[in-house]
Amino acid sequence: MAPSPGQSTRGTKTPRVLVITYALDPTADYVLRELTDRGVPFWRTDLADFPGRSTLTAELRTEGRWGGRMGDELRGVDLSEVRSVWWRKPTSYSFPDTMSEPERRFAASQAKGAVPGVLGSLPGVLWVNRPERNADCTKPVQLAVAARAGLRVPETLITNDPAAVAPFAARCGGHIVTKVFGSIVHTEGGKRGQLYTRRVPPDQYNNPRIGLTAHLFQREITAKAYEIRVTAVAGKLFPVAIHAPDGPARLDWRRNSSSLTHTPVDLPHDVIRGIHTMLGGLGLVYAALDLIVDSDGTHYLIDVNPGGQWAWIDLTRESITLALADLLEKGTL
Ligand SMILES: Nc1ncnc2c1ncn2[C@@H]1O[C@H](COP(=O)(O)OP(=O)(O)OP(=O)(O)O)[C@@H](O)[C@H]1O
Ligand SMILES: [Mg+2]
Repeated sequence: MAPSPGQSTRGTKTPRVLVITYALDPTADYVLRELTDRGVPFWRTDLADFPGRSTLTAELRTEGRWGGRMGDELRGVDLSEVRSVWWRKPTSYSFPDTMSEPERRFAASQAKGAVPGVLGSLPGVLWVNRPERNADCTKPVQLAVAARAGLRVPETLITNDPAAVAPFAARCGGHIVTKVFGSIVHTEGGKRGQLYTRRVPPDQYNNPRIGLTAHLFQREITAKAYEIRVTAVAGKLFPVAIHAPDGPARLDWRRNSSSLTHTPVDLPHDVIRGIHTMLGGLGLVYAALDLIVDSDGTHYLIDVNPGGQWAWIDLTRESITLALADLLEKGTL
């Protein structure tokens, strides 16, 4: 594999592209190699570089914009030159071990107020995506916006009331699943597990542990024909059908990703229209969407991942790389 592109060094131009992601992000590398080949200078950093390895100095100018620089010893961006920000997968700000836990919490809150605040206020900058848009894209919000956009969404119940589950399951023909609101990775007692989509059997409907926190239940699409991953980049859609063999991956393809096959697929016009309306409503320039297609061809929108990965799908990797590079280079929609 080619080495990870760190910084584009070609030319003497000040970078107009700011890329914020973790140090060894192979997905970002595809786009950064493309930008390097095009001679588009960028500065790549991670929030974990702040404040130890990077410095932000910004002063409010009379015209009402922050001027100054964010960078490390060698490279960085002039705040007045930035045209696009790729907020890909940053990790957290990091602080010296010598600081106490309360000090670090305070320092993190200071950094969080300053860095995205200053960058987010710069006028005329294209964000892929604005961090607050990503944060707003919770499951309840995305499903509601999708349904309002005319997309089919499976019936969904959110509750911490065990008594609400059985009547909902009855309305869903007795087939419901549950999935988590946040990351599926769960670590407990040193063991790391994944909280995949699970069927909820009738003897669990009344489980008192449901009362311990909020849960999401959804009608199971039992006649699942195949799934679609749609990667959206500034209005361009890159759909791929995902076919899982019989077995655990039929319910949740993440259970056995090596067993999957990917094929090109077209989306119906009304689904395309719904996706554009939904992404406009969510304010997302980039998103990876999950859809289920049932045996009669109905498309169900089930998930919107504003930071979803895309380089793992061979069929669309090259076109998504080019679409993201075009967008970051251009700095406008
Ligand atoms: N209502 C459903 N009926 C049948 N299968 C479902 C349903 N909802 C999700 N799945 C399956 O579970 C898998 C993951 O779905 P989904 O992306 O909705 O889960 P998630 O936990 O929200 O994912 P993420 O981790 O990306 O947020 C997919 O294979 C999908 O088909
Ligand atoms: Mg998903």
